[in-house]
Amino acid sequence: MLRARDPYRAMRIDSDDLEAYRHAEMVRLQASPPGRITWEADGSAYLTAWPGLREGLSGAVQTAVQDFGWRPGRADAAARLLGDIDGVVVADCAIDDDERAELLEAAGFVPEIVRVRRRVSETPHDPEFTSRACGPGDLPFLFWLASETCAHTVPRVRGWTDDEVRDAFMRRYATLDMDACPTLILEDARKESCGFVVFEMDYVDPASGRVTAFILDIATHPDYWGKGAAQAMMRAGEAEMRRRGVRTMFADISADNPRPLARATKSLGFEMVGHQWVRIPKL
Ligand SMILES: CC(C)(COP(=O)(O)OP(=O)(O)OC[C@H]1O[C@@H](n2cnc3c(N)ncnc32)[C@H](O)[C@@H]1OP(=O)(O)O)[C@@H](O)C(=O)NCCC(=O)NCCS
Repeated sequence: MLRARDPYRAMRIDSDDLEAYRHAEMVRLQASPPGRITWEADGSAYLTAWPGLREGLSGAVQTAVQDFGWRPGRADAAARLLGDIDGVVVADCAIDDDERAELLEAAGFVPEIVRVRRRVSETPHDPEFTSRACGPGDLPFLFWLASETCAHTVPRVRGWTDDEVRDAFMRRYATLDMDACPTLILEDARKESCGFVVFEMDYVDPASGRVTAFILDIATHPDYWGKGAAQAMMRAGEAEMRRRGVRTMFADISADNPRPLARATKSLGFEMVGHQWVRIPKL
């Protein structure tokens, strides 16, 4: 039976545990907001998790695993700690961390999101398209394009219906704070709106701990697909991010949606950095 406990109460640390303990303590201090640490009583594994993460689209509360570790040969202990968490649980895993990915899979998690990253570079302006800040008059276009396109890109693993996804997008754009989330509209040579991109500016890069930019949504009008509109929008977004002193931007792409992922990693210049895994309790 799992005997997880609070390491700050009755923790007996011997030299074998020390390294793991130091690491867990460091993670706890860095975690924002601080997570809860649980341990196997024999010190063979630990796990830090935060039970208050709101899922980005639905707002539903879920538990975020911040870190977990185990002594050599004791992956079973870490798997038990993972197995002990109730409700919907998400966990990040670096793209090359096969050991952790294997453990997450064994503990019933599936990859939900691919996280991608791109350096903000100097790219020339595309004369075919221009961009401008989104204003209140653009909201009907945002609503329409988001429900026509973005809604189809949401991971299916959570079992949401199309209507639930559309409603969630409507709520997102009805309450979007464009001061906090810079939003650009792309226009063609005839000043027709043909796409939008929305950035969040409070994403914490887990590798560096720096606060940076995250692309919440990007979409182009289907009539413009394959004509370089998304590339032009990335350039406009880059110029805006450079102006704000941002050096790196991140985005999430549904793991079950290979086309946007291929586009992001080919023509849009992103690299894959990790997966978000999720475990949904069986009904
Ligand atoms: C994904 C999406 C944003 C791509 O938009 P797009 O405008 O078709 O993208 P682009 O035209 O810039 O790039 C598409 C391809 O056309 C090529 N292309 C064709 N003509 C081009 C031109 N004149 N200039 C530049 N690229 C051109 C690009 O090189 C690119 O090829 P590749 O990715 O196979 O290497 C768009 O399909 C969309 O809105 N999808 C629905 C929402 C979505 O999936 N959002 C992303 C979720 S994370």
